[in-house]
Amino acid sequence: MSQLIPVGIAGLGHYVPEWVVENDYFTRFIDTSDEWIQQRTGIQQRRWLRDDQRPSDMFVEAGRMAMERAGVQPEEIDLIMIGTVSADYTCPTNACLVQEKLGCHNAAAFDMAAACAGFVYTMATGSQFIATGTYKNVLVMGGEALSRISDIYDRNSCVLFGDGAGAAVLQPHEVCKQGLLEGFKLAADGKGYHYIIREYGGGLKPVTPQVLVEGSHMLRMKGREVYRFAVAKMIEIMEWGLGDNDLDDVCLVIPHQMNLRIMETAREKLNIPKDKMEVNIHRYGNTSAASCAIGLSEAWAADKLESDKLILLAAFGSGLVWAGARIRW
Ligand code: ACO
Repeated sequence: MSQLIPVGIAGLGHYVPEWVVENDYFTRFIDTSDEWIQQRTGIQQRRWLRDDQRPSDMFVEAGRMAMERAGVQPEEIDLIMIGTVSADYTCPTNACLVQEKLGCHNAAAFDMAAACAGFVYTMATGSQFIATGTYKNVLVMGGEALSRISDIYDRNSCVLFGDGAGAAVLQPHEVCKQGLLEGFKLAADGKGYHYIIREYGGGLKPVTPQVLVEGSHMLRMKGREVYRFAVAKMIEIMEWGLGDNDLDDVCLVIPHQMNLRIMETAREKLNIPKDKMEVNIHRYGNTSAASCAIGLSEAWAADKLESDKLILLAAFGSGLVWAGARIRW
């Protein structure tokens, strides 16, 4: 194969719905409290889609913002890839709906399912099309509407999740001259498939009236087991991301926002200074595939991405999957 083309990030975007759901909201349905949720997770509030909004609407907003910031017209986009497990429909993909709504009529479009690691997996995959010279502009996104697939009566999971989407336009680095994608690490362990699972409603176990009554078509999670695994894997992926680099060379670590305690444990273990870790879980909850992408987009907007310094993304989710990205801004 001929020499690969270095890939950069030309523009970033994100979207969270307007509806702010405070912790107290859940006390109407389940035995919980604002104090428990804040202490055990760090979450104060999250954003949820209103009934009249579609999950795909979030990708349209995030994608438009990323294209505008990149200075790219919709018809210039060659490929749209969306990392999500809560698309509008099981079939067709959100990427096709978004392609039409954004007017990206020259783009191929498909979804990828890597749960909370969806954005990193999508960015890694989308970048290959630029690296090989196949495409010039690839729009990669990660996002979820987990409010739509979580059970409001399951206190172990429903308080955690928020809705949102994030996006990045990838280009050859010599064109955009920023956000060089230095490396990725993608990993999976299917033995843990049952820890976070939406068991019914797929090809194996169709929805029946009984399933609807039991609510077993909703997302279920073994929180304690996931917690243990997540701490180990977040440390592993951050260690990979830091590599031999001096911490002074690192400008920002953007972990998947699953639980503030998980993020803090990993940060402390690796001696990463507090101000070098991006945190948005208190405002948005766990936005799954969106969380690293929202963190990156908000950090860019706040001028936190320093030229020539490293930014690390670290994600973990259902599958089980975990993934990291090393970006030199
Ligand atoms: N309010 C009050 N009490 C609660 C709540 C709640 N919302 N949720 C659980 N509890 C109770 C439990 O029932 C349990 O009670 P018991 O001792 O009487 O049985 C007690 O609190 C302690 O439960 P633990 O599970 O030990 O609580 P923990 O401190 O581990 O926190 C949590 C639970 C927040 C779920 C944590 O385990 C966690 O964050 N796990 C990781 C989850 C995650 O982020 N998964 C990502 C999946 S998203 C995706 O991939 C699509």
